[in-house]
Amino acid sequence: MYKAVISGMGMYVPEKVLTNHDLEKMVETNDEWITTRTGIKERRIASPEQATSDLAANAARQAMAKAGVKPEEIDMVIVATITPDYIFPATAALVQHKLGIPHAGTVDIEAACSGFLYALSMASAYVSSGMYKNVLVIGAETLSRIVDWTDRTTCILFGDGAGAAVVSRTEMTESSGFIGFSLGGDGSYADLLWIPAGGSKQPASHETISNRLHYMKMNGNATFKVAVRTMAEALESILKDHHIDSHEVKLIVPHQANLRIISAIAERLGVGEERVMVNLQKYGNTSSATIPMALCEAIEEGRVKKGDLVAMVAFGGGFTWGAALLRL
Ligand SMILES: CC(C)(COP(=O)(O)OP(=O)(O)OC[C@H]1O[C@@H](n2cnc3c(N)ncnc32)[C@H](O)[C@@H]1OP(=O)(O)O)[C@@H](O)C(=O)NCCC(=O)NCCS
Repeated sequence: MYKAVISGMGMYVPEKVLTNHDLEKMVETNDEWITTRTGIKERRIASPEQATSDLAANAARQAMAKAGVKPEEIDMVIVATITPDYIFPATAALVQHKLGIPHAGTVDIEAACSGFLYALSMASAYVSSGMYKNVLVIGAETLSRIVDWTDRTTCILFGDGAGAAVVSRTEMTESSGFIGFSLGGDGSYADLLWIPAGGSKQPASHETISNRLHYMKMNGNATFKVAVRTMAEALESILKDHHIDSHEVKLIVPHQANLRIISAIAERLGVGEERVMVNLQKYGNTSSATIPMALCEAIEEGRVKKGDLVAMVAFGGGFTWGAALLRL
């Protein structure tokens, strides 16, 4: 058995910025409403020629450079996304090719906004079992392609971006590494946050297109309540399982969906703002990319350093949720 550590991280966001004021010209909304209800001020939008694999490859290049890991040293590529370039092949295969990674396994996983934590748990299991030495884990999304730009209740929330981590093998004696994961899901909530058509249940037809069923649909109020409860419970249970007091955690890195969700969780755990990473004002909700982007920025800003205990917590469509504890 080995320990699995994050040996390098990277992130990429497209250049185009879409502000709340820009949205005022597109739907019946205003900066004040969006800011007070969500905390979001602006988000990034991919250019027409950029697909999810392009964002993913840019973030991954940076993560591999930081880790000092060459393409031929990557054993597996896992991409978490709900906006793959195609239904198949997997976006991970396209990323592998773009990065010149020879012969690695490639797979996409889909757990919506919790996807990155699910992917990290798999990478950690591969590495700690001794099966692989270096696994490239990416959360990448071009949500601008599945957002209904005529629906003010959803289009104000989402953005495009990618974050990546190289998960590498280290010895059990090393203090750095993943401590544990706690993952959950409940499919009875499937139709509260989803894209109804385009899959095997409702394949694309003139009718599904004219009914706008290929866009994301969400019941915001119901989603909000379950998100707060399940994220807080996931964090509480992982801390309890590992006999860790919340005060020992240097930084909580939550999924960046809504500042009010994040504040409610922090309050429930009795953790002050200074120990909670927030960057959603700049990027909005980028689904599976929020956590790696937030952790990457936290490291770059010096908010956490080697030896610090970090707790990540996510929530997404499915519903899915999860928490992870990591000593950097
Ligand atoms: C979407 C969300 C921001 C809405 O905030 P809210 O406080 O619940 O607001 P409501 O949906 O109750 O809407 C309140 C009013 O604002 C209106 N409204 C909705 N979107 C608006 C917008 N963009 N601009 C202005 N007004 C808007 C509503 O129509 C409603 O008007 P009414 O009272 O006249 O009916 C919030 O529910 C949320 O963040 N939910 C979780 C979403 C999420 O995180 N999803 C992803 C999870 S991974």
